[in-house]
Order: sequence, then structure tokens, then C-alpha cells
Amino acid sequence: MGNTNIFVRARRWAKFLYQYIGERMHGLDFSMLYVGELQRNVAAFHGYSMTDADDMKRMLKELPIDPSQSAFVDLGCGKGMCMKCAVECGFKKVAGVDLDPHLLEIAKNNMKKLHMDVDCIYSNVLDFDHYADYDVFYLFNPFGKQITEQVALKIIESQQERNRDIWIVYYHAKFAEAFDNTGYIFQKETHDQMRDWTTRYYLYPKK
Ligand SMILES: C[S@@+](CC[C@H](N)C(=O)[O-])C[C@H]1O[C@@H](n2cnc3c(N)ncnc32)[C@H](O)[C@@H]1O
Repeated sequence: MGNTNIFVRARRWAKFLYQYIGERMHGLDFSMLYVGELQRNVAAFHGYSMTDADDMKRMLKELPIDPSQSAFVDLGCGKGMCMKCAVECGFKKVAGVDLDPHLLEIAKNNMKKLHMDVDCIYSNVLDFDHYADYDVFYLFNPFGKQITEQVALKIIESQQERNRDIWIVYYHAKFAEAFDNTGYIFQKETHDQMRDWTTRYYLYPKK
């Protein structure tokens, strides 16, 4: 549900409104006006909601890695705000995967307008087969329990293809057992200020 304090909510909406006007002036769209038709009808696919840019950058800075040596992917990237933040944080390669073609078109347009070289990949995460290309996986509560469990295992399997430290940043971590019970090492937990949601960080270390 997030933070229900009236002042925090008012501050959040004021920030969204301010951002929305700024985005429109630059031909960008990260707004939460369209949240996904497919997702509306399939409970296992969660609809679009945006990670706050300041929170995203704080989360990425929690990782004890050198971004210039790491590849980042947002699993369920929506309109691409987290890819934008990852580029701004200096990741050497940035991508996002989403099963909603409309959201992905908007993400591509945003990245083009920002002159950011990222891969916007149209795929269900269950069909995606390039997990081995990435070191840092970001998830903002994008799917239900079963899909989260399958994705956690797919990421582990990718270790056989490319041996490396794997980092998970799981925001609004509703199905954390998918990582807690499968061999990932829990590193820490943080809370964002706007929504009072939890982020859990995991490492699946290099063999
Ligand atoms: C909560 S939004 C997060 C958007 C973005 N990561 C952010 O934080 O700003 C979740 C996204 O996951 C996508 N999604 C849900 N199920 C998916 C699946 N099985 N495969 C790929 N994307 C999925 C939705 O379309 C939606 O854009």
C-alpha cells in the first residue's frame, strides 16, 4: 500500500505532477497514466508503476560494484526510468525487458529522446534467454510468486554460461522467498522515503 501519511502522499503527488510537466516539455513520458492492458487482466503480470529516480539512484549506489564494469537489466522495465538512472550511474551496458509492447515503445522513445544507448527488449521474462549477459538485475515487484521463483532460478542457471557475481536489487520485495530459499545470499535491506517500501539486495557469488 505504501506510505499513507497525508503529507507524504501530498508531497509524492506534487513531485509526480512537477515531473509530469517537465517530462512533457521535453517530449518524455514516464507517467503512470497507462499501466498496461494485458497486466490488468492477468494477475501474475503486475502493471506499470514507476520507481522514483532519486530512490533508484540511491538503490544502485548501495551495490559494492564498479558500474563501469557491470551490465544492468531491469526485468519489467515499463517506460524505462530505471534504465535512464542506470545509464546516469555509469553502467557499461543497460537493458530492460517488458512484455507490454505499448510500454516498450514509450521506453524506446524516451531513450531516443535522451540519446541513451540501451536495449529495450520485448519479451516475457520467462522466454528471455540472455540472463547471462547481465550482472545486476533490478525488479520492482513486477510479477507474482510463481514467475518470481522461475526468474530467480533462470538467473542462477545463467551462472553456468557466464561465471560472475550476480546482484539482485528487489524493490517492494513481495516474494522475497524466491531469493531467500534458492541459494542467493541476502546482503541487506533498505526502505525508501516516499512509499516506505523495502528493497532487498542479494548476491549470488561467482564460483
Ligand atoms: C511495477 S512496473 C516497474 C517498471 C519499472 N521497472 C520501474 O521501476 O519504473 C512492472 C513492469 O513489469 C512488466 N511485466 C510484468 N510481468 C512481466 C513479464 N512476465 N515479463 C516482462 N515484463 C513483465 C509490466 O509490464 C510493468 O511494466
